[in-house]
Amino acid sequence: MRLNALKLKNFRSYENITLTPPEGITVIAGENGAGKTNLLEAVHLCCLGRSHRTNDDADMIMNGAETAAVQVSVDRRDGRHDTGVRLFRSQRRKKICYVNGKTAHRIGDLMGHATCVIFSPEDLGLIQDGPAIRRRYLDMLLSQLQPAYFFTLQQYTSALRQRNALLKQPETPQLDSQLDVWDEQLAQAAAPLIRLRAQMSERLSTMAAAHYRAISGRDEEVLTIRYMTQLTDSDLAAQALRLLQERRHDDFRRLATSVGPHRDDLQLTLSGESLQAYASQGQARTAALSMKLAAFDLLTEEQGEPPLLLLDDVLSELDPLRRNRLIQRIRGAQALLTCTDVSDLNGAEPNCILRVSGGMVTE
Ligand SMILES: Nc1ncnc2c1ncn2[C@@H]1O[C@H](COP(=O)(O)OP(=O)(O)O)[C@@H](O)[C@H]1O
Ligand SMILES: [Mg+2]
Repeated sequence: MRLNALKLKNFRSYENITLTPPEGITVIAGENGAGKTNLLEAVHLCCLGRSHRTNDDADMIMNGAETAAVQVSVDRRDGRHDTGVRLFRSQRRKKICYVNGKTAHRIGDLMGHATCVIFSPEDLGLIQDGPAIRRRYLDMLLSQLQPAYFFTLQQYTSALRQRNALLKQPETPQLDSQLDVWDEQLAQAAAPLIRLRAQMSERLSTMAAAHYRAISGRDEEVLTIRYMTQLTDSDLAAQALRLLQERRHDDFRRLATSVGPHRDDLQLTLSGESLQAYASQGQARTAALSMKLAAFDLLTEEQGEPPLLLLDDVLSELDPLRRNRLIQRIRGAQALLTCTDVSDLNGAEPNCILRVSGGMVTE
């Protein structure tokens, strides 16, 4: 996938800029706070309809402005795809997504046109933090792979919100019949989510293991990724419904739904040992990087061409050998790569170097 243009208007520190990076690797260099991550965030927003680092869209609107707009244009094997997002500070106005010049009615319609994988120092959380970040890793990837996945996820999340709201009320027979409806909807939506997550996790595991081996250079360390869920029957929806009903009484006491894909996790192991518990900082970093590279492979395989790669400050954390291996792996894709110090690039030979400071980008 080729990024022709990236346009930002009143987006974070940028008033109005257009970037037209050449093919290959573009390096974005600048001091801390110069606005490097802002550019990657803008691409992410055009791919997924949301930021990778904030849940509050208004954060991305330039201070003092009422609205922000971002737009990307990518060339794919089947032609040009343009996507864009407009954000509003006013709570009363919802963000608007655009695909090929037309307003998209749902955020899900934006996905799958321009696709990306973002690497950032926070990826270490994939190994060290709780399950939420690992579920998000899957959800961001699978939503780009299959817009239907995103729509089902939205249905699931909204049904879950309704069920949890009811669980906070006193348990009555009337409430029970309302819950029957939500349990049924939750179970129906849970099944395809879990099926795709489990299936793709298996493929990610194989791909991530190969990357881990190549980057670490250690054949004896085998990385595995396994999808962990309470729902494993062949008829997932029926099992989900049964468990939701069995747990209902308990769930009332906990004020939360205790079973379903929102509680699932990825189990990460290195040669059979839990990574969360045992990995050194270096092993954890390599594992996180391997998981992201696996996401890149999966998108490449499924879409028949590589997605955009956004590499935020990752080179400085790798030793020269690992850095070179990473650069070799991403050759052939279009990448935007940020760093504070171009000496981090050592041997990377980028196609273009952009320097950013104070909302300006210069070649
Ligand atoms: N909504 C906003 N309006 C104006 N400036 C912003 C906004 N959000 C962030 N900034 C500015 O962007 C800069 C941080 O950009 P960032 O891309 O994270 O830097 P870095 O180059 O370190 O990755 C800071 O100077 C910050 O003040
Ligand atoms: Mg940054």
